[in-house]
Amino acid sequence: MHSFSYSSLPSRVVFGAGALGQLASEIDRLGSGRALVLCTPGQRSLAERVIALLGSRAAGVFDRALMHVPIETAHAAREMAQRLAADSLVAIGGGSTTGLGKAIALESGLPLLAVPTTYAGSEMTPIYGITDAGLKKTGKDPRVLPRTVLYDPELTLGLSVTTSVTSGINAIAHAAEGLYAADANPVSDWMAQEGIASLALALPAIRKEPAALQARSDALYGAWLCGCVLGSVGMGLHHKLCHALGGSFNLPHAETHTIVLPHALAYNAVAAPQAMQRIAQALGGSSAAQAVFDLAKDNGAPVALRDIGMKAADLDRACEIALQNQYPNPRPLERGAIRQLLQDACEGARPRA
Ligand SMILES: NC(=O)c1ccc[n+]([C@@H]2O[C@H](COP(=O)([O-])OP(=O)(O)OC[C@H]3O[C@@H](n4cnc5c(N)ncnc54)[C@H](O)[C@@H]3O)[C@@H](O)[C@H]2O)c1
Repeated sequence: MHSFSYSSLPSRVVFGAGALGQLASEIDRLGSGRALVLCTPGQRSLAERVIALLGSRAAGVFDRALMHVPIETAHAAREMAQRLAADSLVAIGGGSTTGLGKAIALESGLPLLAVPTTYAGSEMTPIYGITDAGLKKTGKDPRVLPRTVLYDPELTLGLSVTTSVTSGINAIAHAAEGLYAADANPVSDWMAQEGIASLALALPAIRKEPAALQARSDALYGAWLCGCVLGSVGMGLHHKLCHALGGSFNLPHAETHTIVLPHALAYNAVAAPQAMQRIAQALGGSSAAQAVFDLAKDNGAPVALRDIGMKAADLDRACEIALQNQYPNPRPLERGAIRQLLQDACEGARPRA
């Protein structure tokens, strides 16, 4: 075993069907008596359930969480938290809602309790993002890491099959890049392999039976581990490409990750053979890139960027943006090969390795 360093992040996890029922006692545990509940407009009824569970511990609901946390939304939610004298935050929803909770916690230092209902993994990271004038700024701050996370697979039973698959592959992307990160270590490697394997088992089962609680549990468990990897080690080319495509061309988050990942893995295959072998093994395939592509395609997820709104005419600009402020990556970024990667992803071609 080689030498390594590993920092575990201080968060408490309560996992299992019905875990939401422990919300009130978990809020008590945080020493809070006035929790502000956050959700998207579409998840308002779930937030009402949360309010009922909290009883007198609830301060109110902010139901306008939006993708990529626009600064105006963050201001409005911060103002509401202050006006209601909230002393904690409960974010129930996907990465967008967790992201809003982080934006409030960043300024106020309020403890955040997250109840994830997708597989995005944001709840396990101290990474935040806020969009100001169309530009998403991200940063790391220990104050934004949720103190408590309730993983309740029952809350994911209604997540559509397509969103489940794309969100699950979004989680796999964190683990896959974690396996070739410069600061990878045996603990993050283990979490990455276990997380990928759990999702690879769960996603086809969810496609066959969306209400299968065991498959939903396996997917959420995998998402948790993949989120831990994202929170622990650095990400590379794949995340850079997805930030460029999402940030500058407004492509949907999980779908973009799903489409780009096979091509980013193919690009890095020669430079990170051991990581690729581990990813392939966890997916039950012989090639990491091909196995991710098949997982998406066979389970009805999109495989072409042009099908989710990318214009071929914008690929040159996307390539330029991807080459700026590069993230550490096992294979140096070569302009021609990155441009080809984007072309392949745009057209939905099979990955080249
Ligand atoms: N900071 C981090 O570490 C980190 C990590 C991953 C993602 N993110 C961010 O998270 C955002 C994407 O999150 P996401 O992919 O979870 O999407 P999302 O949170 O935007 O959710 C997508 C839609 O699905 C709905 N939804 C969520 N759960 C549902 C359920 N169980 N049933 C039915 N509908 C449901 C939501 O209301 C929303 O309308 C992006 O902004 C991304 O940058 C941040």
